[in-house]
Amino acid sequence: MKKEKQELYIPEHVGIIMDGNGRWAKKRGLPRPIGHTYGAQTFRKITRYISSRGVKYLTLYAFSTENWKRPLEEVNAIIKIFRQYLMDALTDFRDDDIKVRFIGDTSAFDENMKKLIRETEEISEKRQGMVLNIAVNYGGRDEILRAVKQLCAEVKENKLSLNDITEQDISARLYTAGQPDPDLIIRTGAEHRLSNFLLYQAAYSEFYSTDVLWPDFKKDDFEKAILEFNKRSRRFGGV
Ligand code: IPE
Ligand code: IPE
Ligand code: MG
Repeated sequence: MKKEKQELYIPEHVGIIMDGNGRWAKKRGLPRPIGHTYGAQTFRKITRYISSRGVKYLTLYAFSTENWKRPLEEVNAIIKIFRQYLMDALTDFRDDDIKVRFIGDTSAFDENMKKLIRETEEISEKRQGMVLNIAVNYGGRDEILRAVKQLCAEVKENKLSLNDITEQDISARLYTAGQPDPDLIIRTGAEHRLSNFLLYQAAYSEFYSTDVLWPDFKKDDFEKAILEFNKRSRRFGGV
């Protein structure tokens, strides 16, 4: 078993759309927020495991720019779980050498949360292990819009010439600047869509969808995704 694992090609950057918390709770006759509580536990466990498998970048989609549309009670419950997570996160992942970053428009959160976000990033900044991007209030379109606005401002201030703008200039103004594009995007919860996740970066990512609901997602489910990834032929438009 171990040998087989060693021979597998491990993607450098993995993105996960952590979906299905609500349905997981509903199936058990529980309120949706309970699903998010269990989902947060999966988040912790699987992050450690994925880091131990040699992945260099992991981007987890926790809350989208569209998720504010949900009932206030659910949004508040998610924010409460996130706040609790942030308080624990100051010490979390220390032994795993994981560097935590938040991607998305974090300006929407209150001062206390923004401070916790900053502290969590600062405390883990010098770590050399896996980079964990937690996408909160993240939207791919919003991210591209920010990059466009930034480029326009730079052109206006004569820092950049319009004709010289390259695809790399756009990448460099995304939240994931300096990081490789995701090789593999996993979506739990049986849906087959990106739901505004890493739109620009996902141009050539391999997409893997599983029926497993996020709170049930285990090491073996991750290994299944890796096995499937190893069967894919990535051509990037070539032959
Ligand atoms: C994903 O689970 C978590 C968030 C979007 C915050 P959902 O809450 O979307 O769960 P389902 O898809 O309704 O089951
Ligand atoms: C995507 O899940 C967002 C996150 C997992 C954070 P959604 O549940 O919001 O996506 P849709 O509504 O099914 O497309
Ligand atoms: Mg969902």
